[in-house]
Amino acid sequence: MNIIGKKVKRIDGFQKAIGAAKYASDYYFHNMLYAGVVYANVPHGILKKIDVSKAYELPGVVYIATYKDVPGTNKFGHIIKDMNFLVPVGEKVRFEGDVIALVAAETKEIAEQAVKLVEFEIEQLPSVLTIEEALKDETIVNGSSNIGFHRKIRRGNVDKAFNDADLILEMEFETGYQEHAYLEPQGAVAYFTPENIMEIYVSSQCPFYVHEDIANILNLPLNKINVIQTETGGGFGGKEDVPSYIASKPALLSYLTKRPVKLIYTREMDIKETSKRHPSKSYYKVAFKKDGTILGVKSRTYLDMGAYSTLSPIVMYRTTVHSCSTYKVPNVHVDVYGIYTNKVPCGAFRGFGSPQVLFAMESIIDEAAKKLGIDPYEIRLKNTLEVGDETATGHKLTHSVGAKKTLEKVFEMSNYPKLKKKVEEFNKQNQYKKLGIGWSHIFYGVSLGAGGQHLDGASAEVHVHPDGTINVMIGNTEMGQGAKTTMAIIVSEILGQDVSKINILQPQTLVVQDSGPTVASRTTFFSGNAVKIASEKIKTNIVEFLSGYFGVGKKEIEFKNGKVLIREKELSFNEVANLCNKNNVKLSEFGWYKTPKLHFDHETGTGEAYIAYTFSTQLSLVEVDLLTGKVDLKEAWVCHDIGKVINYDGAVGQVHGGVIQGMGYAIMEEIIQDNGKILTNNFNNYIIPTIKDIPANIHVDFVESEFKEGPFGAKGLGEPSLMSSPPSIANAISNAINKRINKIPVSMNDLILKNKEEGII
Ligand code: MTE
Ligand code: MOS
Repeated sequence: MNIIGKKVKRIDGFQKAIGAAKYASDYYFHNMLYAGVVYANVPHGILKKIDVSKAYELPGVVYIATYKDVPGTNKFGHIIKDMNFLVPVGEKVRFEGDVIALVAAETKEIAEQAVKLVEFEIEQLPSVLTIEEALKDETIVNGSSNIGFHRKIRRGNVDKAFNDADLILEMEFETGYQEHAYLEPQGAVAYFTPENIMEIYVSSQCPFYVHEDIANILNLPLNKINVIQTETGGGFGGKEDVPSYIASKPALLSYLTKRPVKLIYTREMDIKETSKRHPSKSYYKVAFKKDGTILGVKSRTYLDMGAYSTLSPIVMYRTTVHSCSTYKVPNVHVDVYGIYTNKVPCGAFRGFGSPQVLFAMESIIDEAAKKLGIDPYEIRLKNTLEVGDETATGHKLTHSVGAKKTLEKVFEMSNYPKLKKKVEEFNKQNQYKKLGIGWSHIFYGVSLGAGGQHLDGASAEVHVHPDGTINVMIGNTEMGQGAKTTMAIIVSEILGQDVSKINILQPQTLVVQDSGPTVASRTTFFSGNAVKIASEKIKTNIVEFLSGYFGVGKKEIEFKNGKVLIREKELSFNEVANLCNKNNVKLSEFGWYKTPKLHFDHETGTGEAYIAYTFSTQLSLVEVDLLTGKVDLKEAWVCHDIGKVINYDGAVGQVHGGVIQGMGYAIMEEIIQDNGKILTNNFNNYIIPTIKDIPANIHVDFVESEFKEGPFGAKGLGEPSLMSSPPSIANAISNAINKRINKIPVSMNDLILKNKEEGII
């Protein structure tokens, strides 16, 4: 390999570091208006009346839009259109962030004032705030029952597994919300141009979702809407479907006023209205043999969807498939339910519903190891998936299964036997401070899988200019994860041009073909393949021309380090581009990649759930202060089998970020609500990790178990980098305090109470 897997400077790093990169809030247009949002602010009720007359009296108010102003459909929802864009009079409000009206004003300040002057009446209904209350179905939040969705796996015979078991563990688990906490809040600027093109500049992971939703809301054809992805300061799943709900607001106001309109969310608005990770409750019963072999899993998981279905059914698909973690489990009976409550709708978040159940299953594995007197490393080694094995859904794995190697590498990297001794020693000598170590061994189905195959395609356009510089446009987005650098590396590997000469453009939906959403860690695999296909076509065009022009064999031409070697002759890539241009060689190509068909039975939840799986292992070392309940992640060892490392520094960065975001989920981050109203609505009371909380050492290594369909063998890493962290840290805390943690975030108060109960303090 020329450049793949090497250290490469991030191509968008400098512009971002000096503040030159242009985010949604950096866009200004002549004559621009500012939008304000009027929220329902109650969890459940019926909208009786809206009165905008007082707000209109405020000088500088240009337009106040209600449901009556929506020219197209007033509904949102990817699976079920159950959410109103603007709540109509006579219809239900289902959470505090439902939107009643929109204001367009000359300044931001006037818009904020006008919002307060919009009057409306809501007849309140009893609110449903917990999974338990919702399950009673006494008050219905949405649809005909609060149990909105059900997914399952039925495989083998679990009853027999329990009959044959030497050990049966029955345990319950609970997980809380997680806020995406992207640094850049949601925002968009809409400009209905004099040419009647609705231009939308939006911070987004999925510009094509915005494209389609705005077309529906405004009743415009798709070729009259251009969604331009602005630099995006983090998404983590929170900018998958949500940007449609954000961008529709200025888009409607711009459509109505024929002026550009800007809407940048405050953090408080963002936390109140936009999606989070689903809180969950899980009930597990798992059968083991004496030697640690898993015989069967019976589980029931409830995900709190909040008021609307949004992406929950997709999230639940992943919850179901990942319910048994990375192990051979022949007998499986999994149920996952999506439950409506009068709270903020939950949606996609790095890991898509899998961290909740991986925490449960990885905790049970540790508990079984303890009960059976087996090391937590050994029990994982025994049950892990290998080539030829079947996953819990019965997917027979034919290749690219480096799971066991990731376990072995972490064992070596951490010098596990020595580390164990060190921890024992420390704990003998310290009464109030305890160290703990914890394993996790997780897997992740890369791309949308059998649950969303219709969306699994991707396009790329690669264009070589006469001076040798290159532009690339893909339909997937850079949101901080390093996709641009990864794409540039792939082009560079094929055409030999230096990455500094390759520019990856922001996607525009009028230019590039719908490439599905930038989610499910699918960009390297899908866009990577599309870019590879396009670059190879250009290379073929150039080679064909050069071999004729110089009269050499095609095999005698090589692209490397910005040079093209033509038998003994050496030209720079720039010179070759120039020569090709003068000779009418086609230097612009389109690449399209689509996923091979998967065979999956949705009724039984069995079959090929995903095209490939990333396998990961993490070992964490924590220190717990028994007096204060404070937990410190001291060190972590992580290894991922990602098929092939393309962007080395980017991959290491993903692991560092993932471990820390997962740590926040496990031990710090907590949404506190009062009658459905989120009280922790900014970072002064919603506590996320900062630089001070980051451990001194996160040791990272990779396994490259080549995936045949992947570009150069690559799978995906964006989400598994987070997913290994929460169960590993929770297991480490359980190890330190010698008591099972079955709820995250681990609360300091809970820990102190536990310690008091135990007479430790
Ligand atoms: N890393 C950064 N820095 N910022 C992000 O928003 N999103 C995560 C992950 N890593 C995210 C990130 C999520 S949820 C996904 S699905 C993947 O990146 C998407 O990118 P990929 O397909 O390139 O892995
Ligand atoms: Mo990531 S949750 O798939 O955007």
